[in-house]
Parts: sequence; C-alpha cells; structure tokens
Amino acid sequence: MLLDTYGRQAVDLRVSLTDRCNLRCTYCMPEEGLQWLAKPELLTDEEIVRLVSIAVRDLGVREVRFTGGEPMLRPGLVAIVEACAALTPRPELSVTTNGIGLARTAAALRQAGLDRVNVSLDTLDPDTFHILTRRHRHQDVLAGLAAAERAGLTPVKLNAVLMRGVNDHEAADLLGWCLERGYELRFIEQMPLDAQHGWDRSRMITAEEILDRLRERFTLTAEPSAARGAAPAERWLVDGGPGRVGVIASVTRPFCRACDRTRLTADGQIRNCLFATEETDLRAALRGGADDAAIGELWRTAMWGKKAGAGIDDPEFLQPDRPMSAIGG
Ligand code: 5AD
Ligand code: SF4
Repeated sequence: MLLDTYGRQAVDLRVSLTDRCNLRCTYCMPEEGLQWLAKPELLTDEEIVRLVSIAVRDLGVREVRFTGGEPMLRPGLVAIVEACAALTPRPELSVTTNGIGLARTAAALRQAGLDRVNVSLDTLDPDTFHILTRRHRHQDVLAGLAAAERAGLTPVKLNAVLMRGVNDHEAADLLGWCLERGYELRFIEQMPLDAQHGWDRSRMITAEEILDRLRERFTLTAEPSAARGAAPAERWLVDGGPGRVGVIASVTRPFCRACDRTRLTADGQIRNCLFATEETDLRAALRGGADDAAIGELWRTAMWGKKAGAGIDDPEFLQPDRPMSAIGG
C-alpha cells in the first residue's frame, strides 16, 4: 500500500498523459505555450499501463484519473483506458479534459470502459472563453459535454476557475446552467501553479466569495463533513437538492490531511503532492529493467516521504518547478 508517515493512504492515482494542450488558459500557461517534453522522455502507452497495473494490483490504488495538459491529445488514450479497464481489481476510471475532442471520442472512451469525465469550463460566454483560454473553442467544449452525456459518461462533472474581472460575475449563471442539465459543478480556487507566475493572493476569488455570489441566487445547505471523505470539494445542496455544488478551497481551506492522491507525470516521475518539490524517477527504473516488485518499492518510498501539507498560505510555501499542465491537476 502507498502509506505515509501521517497515516494517509494513497488510493487515487492521477496520470498525466501529456504536458501539451490546445488551450492557453491564462491561469495555467503563457500565450506562447511551454517547452514541451520530447517524445523519448514520455512514457509509452505500454509503460503507462505497466505502472498503472503495478499500482492497482500491488499498491492498493482503486481509482485512476487521466489528465494532461490535455489528455485527449494523447493518441493512445482509448487503448490505455481499455487496458486499465481490464485490470483486476478493476479501478474506477475517469478523465479530466478541457472537452475539446470529446465530441469525437466520448463514445469510444465509454466503450473502452471509462466511467466518468471532468470537463473544465469557466464561462458560458464565447467571448469570455476566448479571453480566458486565448482560443475560439467554446462551441467544441459544449459539443463535448453533450457527447459525454449521450455516451453515458455520467454524472458529467464540470470544473470552473473564477478570475476577478473576467468571469467572476458568472458563478450563479454557471451553476444554474449545470443544474438544468444535471451536471455537477465544482469551483476551484485559483492556485499558484501557472508557469508564468501570475498568481496573486490578493486578487484570487476565495471560496467564501464564490459562496456569497451563489447565495445571491440559491439557498445552499452544507453537506455533512463526513460525506466529504478524502474528496477535496466541500459540497452544498442547492435549494434543498438534489442538485449540488462543490467548492475546492485549495488555498483558503486546504484538505491535505485527507489527501489520498499519488501522481505520475507524463515523463514517468512520481509526485507525492501537487506541490511537491521532489520527484521519484520511475521511468529510469522501468527502462533500466527493474521488476514490478522493485518499482512498487520505489513508489512506496516516494509516498512515505509525503509532507504533511502544502499550505499555499504558509510563509514557507514554494511554487513547484513544474506547472499544473505538466503535473496534471
Ligand atoms: N488553479 C486552479 N485550478 C487550475 N486548473 C488549471 N490550472 C489551475 C490553477 N492555477 C484546473 C483546470 C482543470 C483542472 C485540471 O485544474 O481548470 O479543471
Ligand atoms: Fe490546457 Fe487545462 Fe491548462 Fe487550460 S488549464 S491551458 S485546458 S492544461
């Protein structure tokens, strides 16, 4: 099992399949993009499936989420999902995507065994979408959401980040729109994970502010905290339910004590935390001929060294070298 010295067990594996993306969200990447990983540095599809199978079979991982950059840009995505769905015990499988390409791939992903998708959508307005992502792809995301629903990748979940003066007036509109469609919306506080270091604590929209804005239109009732478990989102019933909304207060109310995640980057490094400043190189072990037991041992050691918490609000907080797009959310 993947335990640490604070008594936590990692059962939720996030696998970044590529650091590339077809959007340029301002809170994530600079306009010109980043220096992408070179092909030989990336794990192959077979290497990814091997590591996931070690995690699931030997290390107690029960849930696998594929992320990016944008995971739909990985040609082998459907095949990777299919191979992971064939593992015993079968893990829960999901993808976090910006939704572009989902219109084309949702049915194949479902067929391959994918259980759910999380789609990032910050605005209902195409012009605001362009300001936030620097691309005219709003329509593609909406088409992707509809396709996910049709394919049965449900409940469809949406992630939204609010930026002051850009889309922060849309909180209640986004929630209303999601409730009408039966989508589960979660707001994420903006974190200091952008490559260009543009994050500003004094300007970020806090969870409290998001809730205040939602309460102007909706009645929110907190779900009992027991229901939160290791989930980072605190959830509220909207107008008595069954509709719900989540808020991930990564900055103002960090959830490190309940964290059950372990992360694998596209170039085969284990990160025991989103904000880790050190990584463990599984790719070198893999390519050096290590057997499954040796790789499992490296992975266990990596997680054992997990720190108590990141604490963005701590004075000692250091932004990690890798940006969000290369870690995978
Ligand atoms: N802060 C908070 N959330 C972010 N995401 C990307 N960058 C940041 C950031 N700096 C979100 C994306 C996506 C998920 C993977 O993480 O919007 O929903
Ligand atoms: Fe791409 Fe996601 Fe970063 Fe936006 S937040 S640029 S969709 S990786």
